[in-house]
Amino acid sequence: MRFALKGLWTLAISIASVAVFAQEQIIPVTTAENSMVLKVDQQKNLSILYYGRKLGNNNEYGLIPQAYKQTSDYTEVADAAYTASGSRNLLEPAITVTHADGNNSLDLRYVQHEQKDLGNGVSQLSILLKDPVYNFQVTLFYKSYFKQDVIEQWAVIRHAEKSNVLLHKYASANLHIKAKSFWLTQYHGDWAKEMQPETSKLTHGIKTLDSKLGTRANLFQPSVFMVSLDKPSTEDEGTVLYGALEYSGNFKTDLELDYQNNLRIISGINNYASAYTLKPNEDFVTPGFLYTLSHEGKGSASRRLQDWARNYKVLDGKKDRLTLLNNWEATYFDFDENKLKELIKDTRKLGVDLFLLDDGWFANKYPRNGDVAGLGDWAPNKKKLPNGIGTLVKEAANNQVKFGIWIEPEMVNPKSELYEQHPDWVIKQPLRAEHYFRNQLVLDLSNPKVQDFVFKVVDDLFAKNGELAYIKWDCNAVIYNAHSAYLKNQSHFYIEYMRGLYNVLKRIRSKYPTVPMMLCSGGGGRVDYGALEYFTEFWPSDNTDPLERIFMQWEYSYFYPAIASANHVTDWGKQPIKFRTDVAMMGKLGFDIVVNHLSEKDLQYCQDAIKQYNSFKDIVWFGQQYRLANPAEGDIASMAYINEEKSKGVIFNYLVNNRYGSGSIYPVRLKGLDRAAKYRITEICLYPGSKTSIDESKSYSGEFLMTIGFNPVLNAQRTSVVLMIEKI
Ligand code: DGJ
Repeated sequence: MRFALKGLWTLAISIASVAVFAQEQIIPVTTAENSMVLKVDQQKNLSILYYGRKLGNNNEYGLIPQAYKQTSDYTEVADAAYTASGSRNLLEPAITVTHADGNNSLDLRYVQHEQKDLGNGVSQLSILLKDPVYNFQVTLFYKSYFKQDVIEQWAVIRHAEKSNVLLHKYASANLHIKAKSFWLTQYHGDWAKEMQPETSKLTHGIKTLDSKLGTRANLFQPSVFMVSLDKPSTEDEGTVLYGALEYSGNFKTDLELDYQNNLRIISGINNYASAYTLKPNEDFVTPGFLYTLSHEGKGSASRRLQDWARNYKVLDGKKDRLTLLNNWEATYFDFDENKLKELIKDTRKLGVDLFLLDDGWFANKYPRNGDVAGLGDWAPNKKKLPNGIGTLVKEAANNQVKFGIWIEPEMVNPKSELYEQHPDWVIKQPLRAEHYFRNQLVLDLSNPKVQDFVFKVVDDLFAKNGELAYIKWDCNAVIYNAHSAYLKNQSHFYIEYMRGLYNVLKRIRSKYPTVPMMLCSGGGGRVDYGALEYFTEFWPSDNTDPLERIFMQWEYSYFYPAIASANHVTDWGKQPIKFRTDVAMMGKLGFDIVVNHLSEKDLQYCQDAIKQYNSFKDIVWFGQQYRLANPAEGDIASMAYINEEKSKGVIFNYLVNNRYGSGSIYPVRLKGLDRAAKYRITEICLYPGSKTSIDESKSYSGEFLMTIGFNPVLNAQRTSVVLMIEKI
């Protein structure tokens, strides 16, 4: 084995021009608290030496391996920074290829690296790896965000072989972590049941999180996950890694507990039905794999990720958002111009910023009067809207509100003019029966003509209605019968679909950089940090029952900031309007109700709550979020948002159990305050005519509130309590 290696290595010298007997080299990627330490050994293997709390002295990283007495690594590449297959490796690879000459082996050795300071607390390390035998290379990128302890990692794969190389697997990243045990928190779901958590101890072998749905890839399982090291982390204790793939299509994350008891995490685009033929000198750029590591539990990891998302990822993550009234649940498909004009007046009456016209406004030959027809025919329906959209935009302006519109431009109903005119634009197997998801099919975005069409749907809306202020971009169907009439190589289908989607979104954003867009997917089937570069917010679920939403929003909030979570007050659930509104205020507030069905007092509550929300929304959107009482663990839920100065915060409290006697028996311990400061707590968002049960005359030290706590007095009569805390 050694001889063979030496033989390969002679070739490596000529390709990589490096000295065989060079010293080991350590390359640390350092953030505020952690270090991902890479090592180049004498044979130029690049491995992960360590990922964990950083050490003050870089020279001591070299001492780490001798502290572990694990079984031998026969291959010497079990800890590879990017595991190639077909040579020595015996574990799950990051990359698998068939070279131009039919050979299946790959060996990647370090050639050089470059570290760049990108400013604004961001650095980028790139490491070039090459195969000593084949003219094949991978460049690994590590973009690190110092303050937030976040790393984005991706790979660029390229070759200069005589003809095409087949990529069977092409992961974004490959981590290698040491701990005594590993606890995975993953999510599963379905329509109206998104983000259901499950935690389990990882056992030996491979646990795979993946999606093969094509579009709305998160419906059954999102790519976000947590891994606790040594023991399950709690909100404030324990070491926990968060991971997510920045990609909206099929993904695959393998968590392999190997024979040495180390955890290998390999994440990237799902290679399912997707072998990729890479031409000479073509770059295959993988999406980013995002991760962060906290030693103070899940709460701190989430605050870092939220901070990172607002500062660097979510479109306009530090800017304002619009509150809105949506007509979906108020009318479904049953509306006309007059009805909408009334709803626009209601928007003003309610006091929100924008009226959002949902599904059902388009298509003439096959009118969109239900979900069975019309998708794809984006001309206003003449019967419902004889004067087009423009008149509604004007009506909104007359009422001093803005106007937004729903589209689902990636989709088509078979009953549509679009389908009749362009059957070859539709994803389907030519020789098999069509199979529908919500009576619709997906358009083939790998086809540039379809990309142009989808872009034009949006562009035309703006061309005709310059004052359009918001887009809700829906995506209800998954991809069945994956086949493109346009592509020559069907194995490229899933990848080219996503490239097509991102191309369209890039075009939209270069022409309309700031218009707010909601990422909706027949509920919450699509949120990820690949898409959120283009969207200002996402729709977590069609399930807006506030009790369910408390749980769902809790889980989403580990990975996404409140500003990006579109929460609407609807008629789902049995809770009073106050409860429904309060839950929706823990994010970006919207309404989807019939305003004139509200009682006088309910309407007044909503109007007052919107005013209050406008006064504290900056704290919810840009402050630090602290989870105080977990609804999954007791009778109550409590969530706080505290501003950066620790001088003001909003605390939302709910009763989540209606059994006899349930309530806030114990005080809720606050977090994120200044220990030495004095605070006053008042109850806000009171229902008209009701009085608080809280003694607002008292003041408390931060120390008291974080040690003993505060009782929001939740009980069967007070199921939702919003508190304002202010430094005196
Ligand atoms: C699914 C979305 O999640 C809903 O909010 C609504 O927009 C419908 N689609 C419209 O068809």
